[in-house]
Amino acid sequence: MKFFIDTANLDEIAEAQALGVLDGVTTNPSLMAKEGITGSDNILAHYKRICEIVEGDVSAEVISTDFEGMVKEGEALAALHPQIVVKLPMIADGVKACKYFSDKGIKTNVTLIFSSGQALLAAKAGATYMSPFLGRLDDISTDGLQLIAEIRQIYDNYGFETQILSASVRNTMHVINCAKIGSDVMTGPLSSITGLLKHPLTVSGLAKFLEDYKKGN
Ligand code: E4P
Repeated sequence: MKFFIDTANLDEIAEAQALGVLDGVTTNPSLMAKEGITGSDNILAHYKRICEIVEGDVSAEVISTDFEGMVKEGEALAALHPQIVVKLPMIADGVKACKYFSDKGIKTNVTLIFSSGQALLAAKAGATYMSPFLGRLDDISTDGLQLIAEIRQIYDNYGFETQILSASVRNTMHVINCAKIGSDVMTGPLSSITGLLKHPLTVSGLAKFLEDYKKGN
């Protein structure tokens, strides 16, 4: 399973990259605003900086909601850097734009997926990735992991190549459960990745090894 980090914070991206396990980055307009990145020129420059830190795909989201606007924005984003993936919302014009970009060989990520029907549409439009938001479903007492499992089954039934990018991951158990289901990618905060390191027996075991080494030297 690929690990993407879901942030626009350059320090966090660099920390995950330095760990050696990062495969890409996802961003959205809210994450950009959280870092104080506003104005289209600054936003485009920030995407370039992110691409310089990571080696993998970087999802950059359009803010237009009409086909022509999405195409214009998406083309400008894709021209920024070869690692850019055009992120499009799951609305009718987003599906049309996804088909447009996939026909041109430009990578896409269809976002804000909350149902298997939406996942089917994204795959049929040739999306490279599609992002079901599991944490946001959990937030409204709906089983987000169940949706990921259902999409996995549907995609496997027909051999769809669209990658399931489990998004809105909030914790380490989400990561582990996504891996058990066979999600292709997960994107979450830095803590959902670094949290996987933690185990008290690792801490106490290492302390004991070092203590015993000191006794013998
Ligand atoms: C996905 O690409 C989104 O950026 C993200 O995962 C949303 O997560 P949230 O529900 O924690 O805001």
